[in-house]
Amino acid sequence: MGAGKVAHQSWSKFPAHPSRPWVSFRRRNRIGIIALVICSLFFYLCRRSTVSTGISSHPQSALYCPRNPIQKDILVVLRTGATEILEKLPVHFETTLRCIPNYVIYSDYEEEVEGHHIHDVFDELSQDFKDSVPDFKLYHRLKTKGRDGIFIDGTEHGGSGPSGSLGNPGWKLDKFKFLPMVDKALRHMPQAKWFVFIEMDTYLMWGNLLEYLSKFDAEKPYYIGKQMYIGEVLFAHGGSGFALSAAAMRRVTEHWRAHMAEYNQYTIEKWAGDMVLGKVLKDVQVPLLWAFPHFQGDPVSTLDHNITKADRQPWCYPAITYHHMLENEIRSLWKFEQEWHRARPSGVPLRHADVFKGHIHPYLSSQRKDWDNYSVNPKFSENVLKDGAAHASFETCRLACESNPACLQFSFSNASCSVSSEVRLGRRATVQCLEYSAAASKCEKMNENIKEMGEGTLSTASSGWMVARIAEYVNAMDETCNGHGDWIT
Ligand SMILES: *[C@@H]1O[C@H](CO)[C@@H](O)[C@H](O)[C@H]1NC(C)=O
Ligand SMILES: *[C@@H]1O[C@H](CO)[C@@H](O)[C@H](O)[C@H]1NC(C)=O
Ligand SMILES: *[C@@H]1O[C@H](CO)[C@@H](O)[C@H](O)[C@H]1NC(C)=O
Repeated sequence: MGAGKVAHQSWSKFPAHPSRPWVSFRRRNRIGIIALVICSLFFYLCRRSTVSTGISSHPQSALYCPRNPIQKDILVVLRTGATEILEKLPVHFETTLRCIPNYVIYSDYEEEVEGHHIHDVFDELSQDFKDSVPDFKLYHRLKTKGRDGIFIDGTEHGGSGPSGSLGNPGWKLDKFKFLPMVDKALRHMPQAKWFVFIEMDTYLMWGNLLEYLSKFDAEKPYYIGKQMYIGEVLFAHGGSGFALSAAAMRRVTEHWRAHMAEYNQYTIEKWAGDMVLGKVLKDVQVPLLWAFPHFQGDPVSTLDHNITKADRQPWCYPAITYHHMLENEIRSLWKFEQEWHRARPSGVPLRHADVFKGHIHPYLSSQRKDWDNYSVNPKFSENVLKDGAAHASFETCRLACESNPACLQFSFSNASCSVSSEVRLGRRATVQCLEYSAAASKCEKMNENIKEMGEGTLSTASSGWMVARIAEYVNAMDETCNGHGDWIT
């Protein structure tokens, strides 16, 4: 059981100290009894609060955790693999998992990480099946050699999430985890009403998730996440996180147990486990609730807050997940989320617009060195930069952007300027991204020339934003929220 320590944010207000010298002697006895009661209460509360707060070592920034009775009914399920867990799991113990009372971690290798038990998701799968499928090679090596099994010929093969490459052994195993994971999670916490599935690079806004799930009846089958298609199978994208009600979980596990050989074969033929799970949900007639942009697939750094998917833009809607989050991004978003909630009454949802205003906008300046803003808007760029002069310098690049009223940001690196009418924060960069895939949420093509540049040259990307236009952008985006941006149910 990976159940986390419940850390209550509610500091008890202790009764005033029961010494009252002005009280008349006549009433001493009664007062004495009351004092005794208050004293006992005091010690009782004191003891309770030491038991329930795992946070006393950081009194300067008291942990804020949302209070919502539904939290005890939710099991958060983290899916990972031996090749990435040591690098990517620990940050979650220091951030979001601190507020989550019930969670469990499934991997392809059973071990302890920082005192938490990591479950082998395949331990109950038929040995014949595991022996017959070549994708289980890594699993068998881990079984026989322990952690050393992740090395093949001395090289480590990292990554097991969907962001990993198709060739890597961790990723090949990953698709087989989904159905056993659902089956095990349901038995892990049979009384849970909701099961929420995330990956190592998913950021989960727990308070918003609680608000959201409170709006549904968990007795009914629900499958909620960011819609995605492979072929004609519609499913909730795994890295964006998704939720299944207990009723949906039961339907899936019953069906999978009855048709295990079929789905095992289906999984061998397909390349993504989230899609395989989507197929089972389709087969048991649980429709997907399209929950973009609450659940969405980008990190804070590359999300275009004005992107339209299924007729919605993120801006006005509460945020529940981010994907492809780097460790430092998880830390800084957590800090922001904590501060944001601490300053407000509980239950106020944190919207994508709030993340933009508080966590992105302050960093959009006229020039940011060693920063790639992902101005990846190739068509727009081509149009604005027709004459080639823009590629001379950071300054000419900026002028080119300035000359087009729709241009909001630009980046410059090694004689290459790019501009964009979309706003993205971007990331610290020593290489410049030339082509960004929104589908994969990652940079597909780097400016390789930069890597070769010597000392003293402008070897990294610099970015800039049209600061005044961004302020107008914020106002224009806010105006689109009239009548939009409620919870999607
Ligand atoms: C931001 O960075 C991208 C990728 O390097 C670049 O193509 C684009 O032009 C830059 N845009 C702005 C406004 O800096
Ligand atoms: C900059 O990029 C160009 C190609 O666009 C390349 O020919 C050149 O060598 C690069 N400059 C440096 C210093 O690497
Ligand atoms: C948001 O995107 C739409 C469609 O691409 C565009 O027409 C609109 O101008 C954008 N809004 C802002 C404030 O840039």
